[in-house]
Amino acid sequence: MKKELYILSVVVAFSLLTYYLVEPFAHGVMHPHVESKDFVYDGSSDINEVNEKIVKLNEDLETEKSAEKPDAKKIAGVEADISKSKARLAVKQAFWSDVKRISALKGDIEVGEAQFVNCTSCHIPNAPAMGGVTPPSLVNAGAMYDRAYLIGLIKNPAMVSNVDHKFSDARPHPMDSVKYMVSSDEDIVNVVDYMLASAPKAETITPKMAFEDTCGRCHNMRYKKWTTVGETENFKHKQETLAFEIKQLDYQDGLKTYMGKLPPDLSMYIRSRGHHYISTFVEDPQQLLLGTSMPRVGVNAQTAEKVVAYLEEAGDPTKAERNRVGMYVMIYMIFFILAAYLWKKQVWKDLH
Ligand code: HEC
Ligand code: HEC
Repeated sequence: MKKELYILSVVVAFSLLTYYLVEPFAHGVMHPHVESKDFVYDGSSDINEVNEKIVKLNEDLETEKSAEKPDAKKIAGVEADISKSKARLAVKQAFWSDVKRISALKGDIEVGEAQFVNCTSCHIPNAPAMGGVTPPSLVNAGAMYDRAYLIGLIKNPAMVSNVDHKFSDARPHPMDSVKYMVSSDEDIVNVVDYMLASAPKAETITPKMAFEDTCGRCHNMRYKKWTTVGETENFKHKQETLAFEIKQLDYQDGLKTYMGKLPPDLSMYIRSRGHHYISTFVEDPQQLLLGTSMPRVGVNAQTAEKVVAYLEEAGDPTKAERNRVGMYVMIYMIFFILAAYLWKKQVWKDLH
């Protein structure tokens, strides 16, 4: 009896060790823990990112300068990188202080409504792809995106989504021309406050709507029959099925050129990455995966929750049921062990 108890305690101790120490440690190494900033978009992490890069470049410069045989060409290269990064830092700081200044204003909703036609020139239902993506529907945008983010988006789309390094005047962001259509501080805040005021109530936005509007132009989700060109249907004729597939392949070609790689199907991501990772990744992709090609999306906290709920619905639909059944199994096991123990005691009683 003593021996069995000893073995049991060793097994239990190792299981607990693995569960509470080894697994979280491995997880922490694979996915560094990043805290959410409560979906406040103020650019602090973007500015930090460039600051850290400058610190690192300066270290490289020092190491190269103090080398036995300093390489003049390499030093010049690092110095050029430093001045480029410093320029980028200045631009980012100026941009985010503009966003802060404009955010403090109060928009005129009626004027904003008139200005909003600038947006619907591109954002129309069934819009064609532009530079690789379809402009998403803006019908619910006021309820799903953060106010400061929307202000930043009209001011400079590449900067607010922290992918400015990928674009230039020669290769502008697909929404770039908005800068010239709605450019004064007042016009920007008028449009944004009109969008917020005319948006449907947040409660009416379902997880499906949140996902399709904010992620659906880039990500497929086959477990929900979703593709970047819309929901797959059960077509009657093979021609229609093939035409849909061709449409999808054409779209994916453009998307891949735009993003540098095809965004993954998100059906199973909730299982491999988990709730916290996906939520913080959406909030600030570069913080979790430096150099990632996914732009920041700019949704508010509520919308992020809904998107994650939709990913859960797709990738882990039986989670609640599994937890409930697991509980019953545990209770059964405890009773079973107790009964087995009492029975054994009864059977062996005469021998001991
Ligand atoms: C020249 C066409 C064009 C104009 C004009 C335009 N947009 Fe866009 N918009 C796009 C495209 C294309 C995208 C998708 C970009 C992407 O996914 O990288 C987009 C994306 C968006 C998004 C999603 C942003 C995100 O980060 O996920 C919002 C919100 C938006 N636009 C709002 C507006 C508003 C508000 C206006 C008017 C002030 C406007 N757009 C004007 C083309 C345009
Ligand atoms: C404009 C296109 C675009 C939009 C919109 C977009 N994504 Fe992405 N996403 C990408 C690309 C590109 C990648 C691949 C990034 C990489 O591997 O560097 C990606 C990768 C991901 C990943 C995988 C990250 C990892 O750890 O490998 C997740 C999760 C994700 N996106 C979730 C979302 C969610 C949720 C939304 C909507 C709120 C969304 N994305 C909106 C383009 C987009």
